[in-house]
Amino acid sequence: MAKSKSTFICQACGAVSARWQGRCESCGEWNTIVEELVDSGVGAGPKSAIAGGRPAELVPLDGETETAARLVTGMAELDRVTGGGFVMGSASLVGGDPGIGKSTLLLQAAASMAGQGRRVIYVSGEEAVGQVRLRAQRLGLADQGVLLASETNVEIILATLQKGPAPDFVIIDSIQTLWTDRVESAPGTVTQVRTSAQALTRFAKKSGAAVVLVGHVTKDGQIAGPRVVEHMVDAVLYFEGDSSHTFRILRGVKNRYGATDEIGVFEMSMGGLREVANPSALFLDQRDKDAAGSAVFAGMEGTRPVLCEIQALVAASPLGTPRRAVVGWDASRLAMVLAVLETRCGVRIGANDIYLNVAGGLKIAEPAADLAVAAALISSLTGSPLPHDAVYFGEISLAGGIRPVVHAGLRLREAQKLGFRAAVTGRLGPGDEPRGIDISEFGELGALVGRIAANGRKQSAE
Ligand code: TYD
Ligand code: MG
Repeated sequence: MAKSKSTFICQACGAVSARWQGRCESCGEWNTIVEELVDSGVGAGPKSAIAGGRPAELVPLDGETETAARLVTGMAELDRVTGGGFVMGSASLVGGDPGIGKSTLLLQAAASMAGQGRRVIYVSGEEAVGQVRLRAQRLGLADQGVLLASETNVEIILATLQKGPAPDFVIIDSIQTLWTDRVESAPGTVTQVRTSAQALTRFAKKSGAAVVLVGHVTKDGQIAGPRVVEHMVDAVLYFEGDSSHTFRILRGVKNRYGATDEIGVFEMSMGGLREVANPSALFLDQRDKDAAGSAVFAGMEGTRPVLCEIQALVAASPLGTPRRAVVGWDASRLAMVLAVLETRCGVRIGANDIYLNVAGGLKIAEPAADLAVAAALISSLTGSPLPHDAVYFGEISLAGGIRPVVHAGLRLREAQKLGFRAAVTGRLGPGDEPRGIDISEFGELGALVGRIAANGRKQSAE
């Protein structure tokens, strides 16, 4: 007989403890431990486990398989991130801050898919049918044939999905609102979310439908509570952006059926999310070309080159411990670039307040941005603007050298396409250079610092 036992589960990481604590010992979060009732004893596990189970069939690794069938949404930016469309029979998680546009994105994807004659079911646990309809009407998608349900109980949702012809594409918005009769915890707790996600993932595998679960993300960027869900699903996509900017980035962080380093760029408009085919033009749109401290970084996002502006402000600090503020880049990477500038290039910069910003709210993870950051810092320190038609990329080593980075050719061609005439980088391999762009190759950071400073002196003398 199954008994309900009370356990204490961290809502951030899912760790189980025997008693309530103010701080989770596993992940260190405060106030995340919640008492939940969990079934235990005989009858709590799935039936097959009790019966001892029948053995699984062992097959050779190199057998025949069909390639995974995909649902192509027709939204190029979304298809790019999923690696060519959602895979049939897979479950995906789309996470993001509340209000970022997850429901809008998936409603548009649903409508596009239904427009191709697919059976699409959109289950909203957050909004009433009327609200979703209104939004669809406003976006001009109401007549595409998406089927709608407003429901939060997993058993009812599963019964609904199994009624009638099998669906091709199912959206559950959101996983945090779901609850199942099988566990007694409150909706939104780890146990509820995990059990619900498990049931829906199993439904995806069994029915062959592509199921998308929507999940809200907490302030610190974790999918609220159910990090556990990330392990369960086949793909995890994050929808991110800044509420003060209109553009949004869809980023793959896990994908069992494709690469994870692709991004999709969208712009939120009155008519819903618009795809941005040329993100570089968008990120460079508002650039102040003649300001000191601004450098254009020729970066890569997945297989696609993306240009963006790096802004630095170096200001005399009244504080004993100068301030460092970084938006869109890694703070410890900035500390490293500063240390190299101080130690290897003899630049006195460390005693200043330093602010670094990747314009437009983009987040950069590439070490190739080192050189653009260093150029922006020196430009701000010396007060001399960098040439406005130049791009920068290269990784800085601790010894003060500039290392070449991958895809130099792609970066240069993108820069050229957008009207840039010069590029500053490390030593390039043969065959990387396209014609028509003036390339300055520097082996040492010190040489570049010297050139920027000399330009500054020339400008002020004129
Ligand atoms: P929504 O998709 O509801 O976000 P989420 O599901 O991630 O919580 O989007 C909410 C925001 O998007 C809302 O603040 C208004 C804005 N929005 C637009 O600017 N234009 C539109 O056409 C739509 C539908 C929403
Ligand atoms: Mg929503």
